[in-house]
Amino acid sequence: MWSFLQSLLDSSTLSPHGICLLWRPELIWLHVVSDSIIALAYFSIPFALGAFVWKRPDVEFGWVFWAFAIFIMACGLTHVFAIWTLWVPDYALEGLVKAVTAAASIFTAIMLWPLLPKVLALPSPTQLVAAQNALMFEAQERRQAEDMLRQAQRLDAVGQLTGGVAHDFNNLLTVIMGNIEIAQHYTDDWAASGAERIRRVLDSAMGGAQRAAKLTQRLLAFARRQPLNPKPLSPNKLVAGMADFFRRTLGENIKVNMTGSGSIWQVEADHGELEAALLNLVVNARDAMPEGGKLTIETSNAYLDQDYCQHNVEVTPGEYVLIAVSDTGHGMASDILDRAFEPFFTTKIAGQGTGLGLSQVYGFITQSGGHVKIESTIGVGTTVRIYLPRLPQVAAEDEASRVTITGGRKGETIFVVEDDPDVRSYVVETLSELRYNVLEASDAEAAKIALRDCNVGVDLLLTDVMLPGQNGRQFAEELRKHRPNLKVLLMTGYSHNTIVHEGRLDAGVDLIQKPLTRAVLASRIRDLIEAADAT
Ligand SMILES: Nc1ncnc2c1ncn2[C@@H]1O[C@H](COP(=O)(O)OP(=O)(O)OP(=O)(O)O)[C@@H](O)[C@H]1O
Ligand SMILES: [Mg+2]
Repeated sequence: MWSFLQSLLDSSTLSPHGICLLWRPELIWLHVVSDSIIALAYFSIPFALGAFVWKRPDVEFGWVFWAFAIFIMACGLTHVFAIWTLWVPDYALEGLVKAVTAAASIFTAIMLWPLLPKVLALPSPTQLVAAQNALMFEAQERRQAEDMLRQAQRLDAVGQLTGGVAHDFNNLLTVIMGNIEIAQHYTDDWAASGAERIRRVLDSAMGGAQRAAKLTQRLLAFARRQPLNPKPLSPNKLVAGMADFFRRTLGENIKVNMTGSGSIWQVEADHGELEAALLNLVVNARDAMPEGGKLTIETSNAYLDQDYCQHNVEVTPGEYVLIAVSDTGHGMASDILDRAFEPFFTTKIAGQGTGLGLSQVYGFITQSGGHVKIESTIGVGTTVRIYLPRLPQVAAEDEASRVTITGGRKGETIFVVEDDPDVRSYVVETLSELRYNVLEASDAEAAKIALRDCNVGVDLLLTDVMLPGQNGRQFAEELRKHRPNLKVLLMTGYSHNTIVHEGRLDAGVDLIQKPLTRAVLASRIRDLIEAADAT
């Protein structure tokens, strides 16, 4: 082997390559210069490749670059030998360098083929730029969605707080208003000289309490806890019915334009609350256009798609009816827009706004399964869009119920179950005064014992929803097992999950909302008892 290598490397019998060129200087130099330039170029490439792999250790398939660098370096060497062998006939050495080059080239070439699909799969710079843009867009969208979610969560938290406060406040108001009412009733027969003053004082106390009751109602509306009475209605009819009222509210400086799509769907919503919501929007629009302007109320069918719902997390895709109220007023800055739905947020001077208008709109619409969106541009105007879910089948609209005061008939008995002693005493006194026989208990257990011990027929059970131990609804259902015809009227300060699901009252549940007033209590009880008699 060694002697073979020695004989291979022995170049004493060989002629240099220059002889083939007949030592013609122009040919010799042509080869020398060309081979030198090629060799230099070849030698520089591995350095560039090495520097690249060194600086970018994250680059996939780094070894290919190294293999390529070796191959190119070997190619360069073959050109150096081409110059060398012009004068020195070291053809064996030249051949060995070529053999190394061949090995490196074969290895690199073979390894390149399986690599090709992987390299092709690598994203191109244009694709990378597109992907980066898409990522940035997505991140922005996510930020917006998170902002909205945070906003919804903040409103939720405030809603819980206001709901709780309003609930307890309603109980207190029931006591205050009830006792004022009783005092007013007693003073009716007084002829004494001071009686007139007492009556005035009581009237004013009642006025204050009624305002407080309205306030708690708006708070409950925001907290999405007011018991709603959704009925099928046509938005066009409702808006048209309010047109004159809106015109009077807006004054002569503001032009009113109403456009309604002809084949509008029906919705199911609480008539009174929807009217209140529209009025709140119209009043806001009026306040935003002190110099006059134009108010447009538009109704149309709308479909909220997946894409829209992705950007408005609290709404689900589907068919809705849109009522849009637009004005050409001063508009809202973004910091005002962000807080507009918050209860008590107002930019109006004291006495002009309580900051509860949009809270009512937000709470009521969300509780009704709908969605509200405000768009506003400073100096251009504001559009508030209300979306209410479409009612699948057309149904007749109901007449609004009327309230009249009618007392009990002889021998009619009402069982009152209420844990708050003050509320209970007011209710018992009011019902007795309305000529009913009244039985009372503070909770379900006490009520069961009282019912077992007495043998009187009960025409109606009037019970609070939130009772200690068993809740009012469960208690009523238990009683109905033995007295299937028993009429039940539930009292509540706000709508609990026990009776309200997805914002509406369960079927077969009759509910009266606190604070209770004599007139409403009397009329609801009468309606229920008479409905029972009729069946
Ligand atoms: N159409 C509108 N154009 C400009 N700003 C509006 C508009 N609607 C509401 N706003 C802004 O949003 C705030 C909150 O409105 P919201 O209706 O809840 O309360 P308010 O109108 O101030 O008081 P309230 O309705 O209880 O009388 C307003 O004070 C006002 O700054
Ligand atoms: Mg308002």
